[in-house]
Amino acid sequence: MTAGARVDVHSHLLPGLDDGAADWDESLALARAAVADGTAELILTPHIYPEVYDNRPETIRALTAEFQRRLDAAGVPLRVRPGSEIFLMPQTAMQWRRGEVVPLGGEGPYVLVEWNMIALPPYVEGVLFDLQAAGAVPVIAHPERYLPVQRRPQWLVPLVERGVWLQITASSLLRPRKDPARRVVEWLVRRGMVHLVGSDAHNAQRPPRLAEAYRVLERLPGGGETLVTVARATAAVLAGERIDLPRPAAPRRRRFWL
Ligand SMILES: [Fe+2]
Repeated sequence: MTAGARVDVHSHLLPGLDDGAADWDESLALARAAVADGTAELILTPHIYPEVYDNRPETIRALTAEFQRRLDAAGVPLRVRPGSEIFLMPQTAMQWRRGEVVPLGGEGPYVLVEWNMIALPPYVEGVLFDLQAAGAVPVIAHPERYLPVQRRPQWLVPLVERGVWLQITASSLLRPRKDPARRVVEWLVRRGMVHLVGSDAHNAQRPPRLAEAYRVLERLPGGGETLVTVARATAAVLAGERIDLPRPAAPRRRRFWL
């Protein structure tokens, strides 16, 4: 992955499925903005949220194919792939087993998940474990935006140690340095805990921009290593293949029972 050929792994550009693009005109305008910013491939991740956004995989895949046809017809050099962003529920692992979820990129083990921003639902850790037991690799969308994570980012360490991935939102890197989301991102970058970067683009107010964020990222402590990890992780997602990435060093714990 080189500059000018970036992959955006999180976006809401499919029209009418969620709180993202409203129609094909907006989808195409956002796609042109992504290309102008240096993005070459983009994964479409409409929300799947029972009773709020009841999106079906076959709808997402069909609309993705239609979007590609429209992009090609309009001469917009962007490859799009299907995906979804799952609002984590107690039954999410069952949804995964039944194929009611579109993996990131369309095939493979990676599944983008989110949950309530304000409070941590009590089932989250258990369902992430259930997903792993079902063969998935959970990817937590924008961990830096969750209030409980902003209070205690250490909560993420054991999850990453056991193979859960983290996807940060590019625009979090463009916030003021004292902003809680930016502080969490910098904390994660220092520890080698960032695996994927996405724009989470929805519309003109939340645009599909990555380039400026990458420029900030490469100058951060740990940024160089993070860019290598993100390139490897992104390639694995696009190939639908599992890879083992470096995990954060586990802090030494005193074994008080010995
Ligand atoms: Fe999103």
